[in-house]
Amino acid sequence: MSGMVYEEARLVGSADIAEGMKRMTFLAPGIARRARPGQFVMVSTEARGTLLARPLGVSGADPEDESLTLRFAVVGKGTSWLAERRNGDAVRMYGPLGHGFTTGAKDCVLIGGGTGLAPLFFLKEEIEREGGSALLLAGAKDRLCLMESDVLESGCVIATEDGSLGERGLVTGPLRRLTAGRRFDMAYACGPVPMLKAVKDACAQAGLPLEVSLETRMGCGVGACNGCTCDQAVKDGAWLKVCKDGPVFRAEEVLR
Ligand SMILES: Cc1cc2nc3c(=O)[nH]c(=O)nc-3n(C[C@H](O)[C@H](O)[C@H](O)COP(=O)(O)OP(=O)(O)OC[C@H]3O[C@@H](n4cnc5c(N)ncnc54)[C@H](O)[C@@H]3O)c2cc1C
Ligand code: FES
Repeated sequence: MSGMVYEEARLVGSADIAEGMKRMTFLAPGIARRARPGQFVMVSTEARGTLLARPLGVSGADPEDESLTLRFAVVGKGTSWLAERRNGDAVRMYGPLGHGFTTGAKDCVLIGGGTGLAPLFFLKEEIEREGGSALLLAGAKDRLCLMESDVLESGCVIATEDGSLGERGLVTGPLRRLTAGRRFDMAYACGPVPMLKAVKDACAQAGLPLEVSLETRMGCGVGACNGCTCDQAVKDGAWLKVCKDGPVFRAEEVLR
């Protein structure tokens, strides 16, 4: 099933998953049945001064119980409004949007930094559901900023810049070490642009194909406004639309 739907999603669960970060689960049958890892939804907020909907990556979707999970940092008006919703509240959203990750590879490594970890939870579940293996490398400034740190502590590789959890340093440290000693089929990354560039470099050295998800500011989310173009996504001298051509790209196409 594909295509985008408008939905009044009903909030059914909410939790704090790090300092200033939330996990919210909605009953959203139309989106949950269609969503693929790497796609996103546009969430309409009723906060004053937020005319435009806000993009959030799909962090989990279960077509059977019709649930949609979002994990996000509370950074401004829109995400603050969302974080204040209570169970039973309706939130308008549309999606799923954009091109998601290509799955099907067997032995995969997933690299996420900060809020870029959000879509990788869904990707990991999907790869494992399809019978592949997915090793998640998670990076954050410190322990308090790492979303779902208690979940990630079992079975994932963690790197924090201050060493408060996992290895001290950037997530590219363990990535370089792992790819030197083990052959993966595919890598996927989401996070800040400097991290993505370092991951691209490490994967190129290891001869490992990589897909990256870019996060830009967005207007419409559907290719109509050019609000999502950025220096990192240009092809043959023309801006790509991150919302429609992405947000997932092959690394060699983007990140100059
Ligand atoms: C495809 C896509 C998927 C995303 N998925 C997630 C996700 O799963 N979890 C998550 O926490 N965030 C995600 N983001 C970022 C999220 O959209 C922004 O944090 C959100 O729109 C901020 O809205 P706001 O009204 O709260 O903040 P605003 O009041 O609009 O801005 C507050 C601050 O946040 C900064 N900001 C706003 N938008 C972005 C952005 N896109 N990237 C970086 N900084 C921004 C502004 O520059 C400003 O400093 C995603 C963005 C895109 C494009
Ligand atoms: S956000 Fe409008 S064209 Fe991409």
